[in-house]
Amino acid sequence: MFASVDVVSARDTRYKRLVNEQILMHAALAGRLQNERAYSAVELVEALAVFMPSALECKRLKSELQSHRNPFTCGDIDIDVVRLDGRRRFLLSGLPSASALEVAVHYGDNLTVLPTLRTGSYELIYIDPPFNTGYDQQRTRLRTVEDSSGDRVGFAGKRYRTEEIGSSSFADSFDNFMGFLEPRLREAHRLLTDEGALFFHIDYREAHYCKVLLDQIFGRDSFMNEIVWAYDYGARSKKRWSAKHDVIFWYAKNPKQYTFNHQAMDRIPYMAPGLVGAEKAAKGKTPTDVWWHTIVPTAGKERTGYPTQKPLGILRRIIAVHTNPGDRVLDFFAGSGTTAVAAREMGRSATLVDANPEALAVIEQRLEPYGPIMHGWDSPSQPSQQGG
Ligand SMILES: C[S@@+](CC[C@H](N)C(=O)[O-])C[C@H]1O[C@@H](n2cnc3c(N)ncnc32)[C@H](O)[C@@H]1O
Repeated sequence: MFASVDVVSARDTRYKRLVNEQILMHAALAGRLQNERAYSAVELVEALAVFMPSALECKRLKSELQSHRNPFTCGDIDIDVVRLDGRRRFLLSGLPSASALEVAVHYGDNLTVLPTLRTGSYELIYIDPPFNTGYDQQRTRLRTVEDSSGDRVGFAGKRYRTEEIGSSSFADSFDNFMGFLEPRLREAHRLLTDEGALFFHIDYREAHYCKVLLDQIFGRDSFMNEIVWAYDYGARSKKRWSAKHDVIFWYAKNPKQYTFNHQAMDRIPYMAPGLVGAEKAAKGKTPTDVWWHTIVPTAGKERTGYPTQKPLGILRRIIAVHTNPGDRVLDFFAGSGTTAVAAREMGRSATLVDANPEALAVIEQRLEPYGPIMHGWDSPSQPSQQGG
């Protein structure tokens, strides 16, 4: 049904600079674009907007589309230009399907679940563990035992059962926190692909000790960035500088080969736009390792009510730059499931793990549009196994 794509005018070539295959694939995998559907220029720009670097590029794309007459290709994707009811429309084919992606959610202690996941199967791991804030956390310790009639299925169809080996409260002292993290971080290293990345989110109290532990597990050469997420919310101290930032460490499994999609960075406003000229000011600049971003607004629609929920904006930026469409993202301290929401929005698969039934209930509801596959969890009121 598509017209020949041999005719490529000068205008076509200019257009291809604005919309590329990656951006179209992003939008298709995120469920924002479908094959065999006719889009107006405005609808296409809307579908692609979240993946475009700036509002200025969106404006340019719209004006290019509005004057476009010839069919053209973007990699494997064909775009035909047709007239429907006298109006110009764009028909797309060759887009990847969003149904190839999945969201898997595991209920249980991550130290029990992680060994059942396949080595080298995630391009990105983001984790935001409890911050060792001084509150005791009650935990049930579990171990996984191979058992042909077990309820958990691991790699190559092997079955496992989980055994409770006691209950412990997670004492909030430095030694215990590192002891808690270490085996989980070793699992993270095993689960990453050879070119994969770990993003480790922590606050100022533990960041330095965690950096030393991560250096031991990943190697100092693998440390790429300390990202500071700065926010400006809540009470201010009169006795010291108020702490208004978290730290996110980026480790690349292979520091010589890793994903860093510079062109996928969102743009931020210049501090002094008057000094850079109108075009640059409208385009904005790329972020540095200090990310200013509001916390999840207390009355915003993003808010789930889960106490430690992180903003989608932070996860979107990490996923856009450090993964490609179709990649797999793991978060084994999942909380409200922010990582999976951002991953699926951007056309990536996601695996979540959490030991708290309240987290699972939020995740199940929040990810409902993506049809999550739940493991070890039957319904919000009837969890099928005990977590820590
Ligand atoms: C800081 S919260 C994560 C918040 C999340 N980033 C979000 O945006 O909602 C940490 C989560 O880790 C979970 N957790 C703590 N220990 C765990 C364990 N051993 N296994 C699995 N989940 C655990 C807690 O239940 C909690 O939901």
